[in-house]
Amino acid sequence: MEKLKITGGGRLAGEVTVSGAKNAALPILCASLLAADTLELEQLPQLQDVRTMLRLLRQLGVREQADGKRLALDASQLVSHEAPYDLVKTMRASILVLGPLLARLGEARVSLPGGCAIGARPVDQHIKGLQAMGAEIRIEHGYVSARAARLRGARIVTDMVTVTGTENLMMAATLADGETVIENAAREPEVVDLARVLTAMGAVIEGAGSDRIVVRGVPTLHGARHRVMADRIEAGTFLCAAVAAGGEVVLRSAEPATMDATLDKLREAGARIETGADWIRLSMSGRPRPVSVRTAPYPAFATDMQAQFMAVDAIASGTAIITETIFENRFMHVLEMQRLGADIRIEGNTAVIRGVDRLSGATVMATDLRASAGLIIAGLVADGETVIDRIYHLDRGYEGIEAKLKVLGARAERVR
Ligand code: UD1
Repeated sequence: MEKLKITGGGRLAGEVTVSGAKNAALPILCASLLAADTLELEQLPQLQDVRTMLRLLRQLGVREQADGKRLALDASQLVSHEAPYDLVKTMRASILVLGPLLARLGEARVSLPGGCAIGARPVDQHIKGLQAMGAEIRIEHGYVSARAARLRGARIVTDMVTVTGTENLMMAATLADGETVIENAAREPEVVDLARVLTAMGAVIEGAGSDRIVVRGVPTLHGARHRVMADRIEAGTFLCAAVAAGGEVVLRSAEPATMDATLDKLREAGARIETGADWIRLSMSGRPRPVSVRTAPYPAFATDMQAQFMAVDAIASGTAIITETIFENRFMHVLEMQRLGADIRIEGNTAVIRGVDRLSGATVMATDLRASAGLIIAGLVADGETVIDRIYHLDRGYEGIEAKLKVLGARAERVR
C-alpha cells in the first residue's frame, strides 16, 4: 500500500495550478445521462473518484472519447439502469445517477450507499424528493428501486441542506412534466456549476446559488460543452499549508469568489492575501493566530476545510475552537494529529485546540479524504519525518498532490 512521506520544516514558495473541482465533476458526469447527445467536458480532474464514476457510466452504456484535455461523453445508447453495490460502496456520490437515470429511462436501481467513516449519511432526502415528483420507490435487497413513466413537477422542501440531494433532484426535474421548486436547496458553487451545464443542455433553471431553485421541465435535453469549475477545497488546502508552514504561494486557475469563508479565516490567522478573478496570492510569516470555525452549508465555512484548519490551529499561538455541525463523526484526524503532538480535546461536536510550539513527525493513518489533507499540513510543520499511511483516500480527491507540494518546495515523496 502506498504511503506519503513528508519531511517537515521549511517554508513553501511557488506557483501551482488548481485542478477542476471533484465535487462539481461528479454530478456533471452524471448529467451526461440526461441527453441522447454528447456532453464535452474540459478541466475534468484526474482523480480516483472521477475514474470510478466513469466506470459506472460505462456500465450504464455511456461511451467516452478523450481528445487531449477534453472528454466527450455519449449517452445515446444506455444499456442498463443499475448502479451496483461494488461501485457505490467505493464512492457514495454514485447515488447521483439515480435522478438522471429515472428521468431519462423511467427506472433506476441504485445500491444504497450506506454509512461511511465520517457519519451515517442517509439518502432519505433524495428519495423523498423523487417520491414527491411521482416516483414509485422501493428499498429492497440493499437497493433503491425507482420507477416513473414521467416524473412530474413538485414543490420539495428538504429537511436539511443537502448538496448531492439538491443536485439529484435538480437533474431529475429537468425532464419532468411541469415546474419543480426545491426549497432549502444547497447554495454550494458546485450546484451552480451543475446548473450551468444543465442550462447549456437546454434545461430551464432559475435560482441556482440561492436556497430556492425552480426548474421548468422540458421533454429532452441536448449536447453541450462545459469547463468544470476550479476546486475550492484543493485551493484552500494549499493555502492552509502555506499559512501553517509560512512562505508565499500563488494559485492559478483558482476561483476566489467561491472561497470567501476560507479566505476570511486565513486572513484572521495572519495571512496576507491578494486575489484576481482567477488567481490567489498568499504570503505568511510567523506563527499563525488561532482561528475558530464552525462548519455549516455554503456560504458559511465548509466541512471539507475543517481538518486543514485544525492542522493550522495545532501550531497556532493560542487556543481555537472548531465545531462540526454537518457530519457527526468527522474528527477522526484528531487522534492522528495527537500522535504528532497536537493538543486537542474533543467534547461532542466541538474540538478545543491549544496551539503548541512544534509538532513532531510520526507515522499516522489517513481516515478519509480531507483528514488526509489535514495530516499533510501537520506533517509539513512537524519536526522530522511524517509517514501518512492509506493515502488512497488522498488520490480520490487531490490530483497529483505530491507533485504540487514539491513545486511549492515541500519535501513529499510517495513510498511503498
Ligand atoms: C457533499 C460533498 C462532500 C461535503 C458535503 C457537505 C459531494 C460529492 N460531496 O456530500 O464533500 O462534505 O456535501 O458539504 O459533493 N443528509 C441526510 N439525508 C439525505 C442527505 C443528507 O440526512 O438524504 C445529511 C447528511 O448525513 C449530512 C448532511 O445532511 O449530515 C449534509 O449532507 P450532504 O450535503 O448531502 O452531503 P453530500 O452531498 O453527501
